Amino acid sequence: MEASNIPTQARPDDAIVWRDGRLFLLDQRYLPERAEYLELKTASETAQAIHAMVVRGAPAIGITAAYGVVLAGVAASRRSTDGWQSAIQADLDKLRQSRPTAVNLFWALSRMEALIGQLSREGDPGDALLQEAMLIHREDVMANRRMGESGAALIDADTVVITHCNAGALATGGYGTALGVIRAAHGKGMIREVLADETRPWLQGARLTAWELLQDGIPVTLLADGAAASRMTQGDVGWVIVGSDRIAANGDVANKIGTYSLAVAAKHHGVKVMVVAPTSTIDMSLPSGREIPIEVRDADELRYCGGRQVAAQGADAWNPVFDVTPAELVDAIVTERGVVCLPDEKKMEKLMIS
Ligand code: MRU
Repeated sequence: MEASNIPTQARPDDAIVWRDGRLFLLDQRYLPERAEYLELKTASETAQAIHAMVVRGAPAIGITAAYGVVLAGVAASRRSTDGWQSAIQADLDKLRQSRPTAVNLFWALSRMEALIGQLSREGDPGDALLQEAMLIHREDVMANRRMGESGAALIDADTVVITHCNAGALATGGYGTALGVIRAAHGKGMIREVLADETRPWLQGARLTAWELLQDGIPVTLLADGAAASRMTQGDVGWVIVGSDRIAANGDVANKIGTYSLAVAAKHHGVKVMVVAPTSTIDMSLPSGREIPIEVRDADELRYCGGRQVAAQGADAWNPVFDVTPAELVDAIVTERGVVCLPDEKKMEKLMIS
């Protein structure tokens, strides 16, 4: 992996760039302080970058893994004389193990694997794999544009919204899911203000969401995560709008840790909750949110902040990075196939067969 300057002005829509046979990621660990691209030369480096949060956000993880498969396929066909399809398996495993919660990762890898199964054992599979990865990337941007329009249609004029984590262009192929809705609604003059939870411990809200929105001229005010409920007592917050990493068959939603408490507070204050996610985030194989694997990351992510130890020496820490919001706390799930209001098992099933 090496830091690299590519001739691209760092824009949120260009978080994942494939150029001249090379994969570049805008390194989200350092935003907004510096905008630096990392070049990934192998699938193994790609898996490492996903785990290390160089790229993050469910759809962006899936898209990056798909490009990782392209790197894996090209390398496997160069080194293997008796069929690249078996030589690629170890790399697919590494990509699969990079992060556990966002189902978009497994969805994108399954799509690439389906193609791998159809390709010839001879020759270089690079072009065919690249076409599929680029299609996954393009389709995600199109889905976001669609969801942006559908979600914005639910928002009344002069609305204050709260968002959590970063579900923007940086977290997707471009435009964003929750931030796509906010962008579309702002374009229609519906948004008075966006309140962005800072989102401990990685500060995706403070660092990434604020960076994206400010570039678009959308007014944003940061909140400490614990301040959201208190802000709702002012009575002017209309919607909580968030993305998701995995939605179960009954409409339970996994998203960044803190989403659940935000939804509980929203219910108490009569604020509506909108989850914006493409159908690649829906996992109909899991009956409920209880079965969603929740990633627990290193305790030092909590004990340190900006490289400085902030916790008392010797303090233990529990660091689950996602939680599950039960379907009964969700007012609308917005997908590219349509909007599910007050989600339940039947409505989710209907959406997925449509
Ligand atoms: O740990 P992260 O930064 O990958 O978590 C991201 C989120 O929780 C997002 O809200 C989710 O992936 C939706 S992104 C469109």
